[in-house]
Amino acid sequence: MSGLLYVSNHPLVTHKITQLRDVTTDFRRFRSIVDELAMILAYEATADMNTQPVSVQTPLTVTEGRTFAEKVGLVPILRAGLGMVDGMLNLLPQAEVWHLGFYRDEETLQPVIYYNKLPADLSTHTCFVLDPMLATGGSAIAALDILRSRGVEKIKFVGLLAAPEGVAALHAKYPDVSIHVAAVDERLTNAGDASAGLPPGFIWPGLGDAGDRQFGTG
Ligand code: PRP
Repeated sequence: MSGLLYVSNHPLVTHKITQLRDVTTDFRRFRSIVDELAMILAYEATADMNTQPVSVQTPLTVTEGRTFAEKVGLVPILRAGLGMVDGMLNLLPQAEVWHLGFYRDEETLQPVIYYNKLPADLSTHTCFVLDPMLATGGSAIAALDILRSRGVEKIKFVGLLAAPEGVAALHAKYPDVSIHVAAVDERLTNAGDASAGLPPGFIWPGLGDAGDRQFGTG
């Protein structure tokens, strides 16, 4: 797999994503780990952010430092992306948060939009689209379609788990959008998995439904 795909190999990330996969991890702990992973991935995904020189008065003298030169918009995809917002904001407290709500139709697996709270002025921002799961890629692509139609140039996707199918779909339509995740799993479930009681379109082996597992609705 090539393109702008960054899979963290940090031991903290591999440890925490393993805890997320564990079916015995309850929703309070699950939420905490999503928050922790979002902060670590924020550190990695911001490695190429632009900075500009600034003078700073220390207790001893004036010296040169550097400060962020980019405005940032965090775009959580509801619901599951909500759990990644605080972790990102820990490192990017100046960021604006713009909510997009999609649910995935269970039959067609196509994203259906139900909420859009983008501000009027957003084209000058760097955007981080947040969603723990990149499965077919449909929800992320729908979010990117909206952001690009509003003139946003610099966009990154930050998630936790991706399927190869979702990475390929996102790269095919938006090859310039980097993808930052904790792990890429083997595949998506399909009709052949129905005999094992598994619905299609789930990341396998995965961690289940990230929204339900965060909010205790599973
Ligand atoms: C899940 C997940 C992603 C989407 C991924 O959301 O949180 O948003 O599906 O699938 P895709 O890549 O195939 O589009 P879901 O529709 O279950 O909604 P939820 O976040 O409210 O649980």
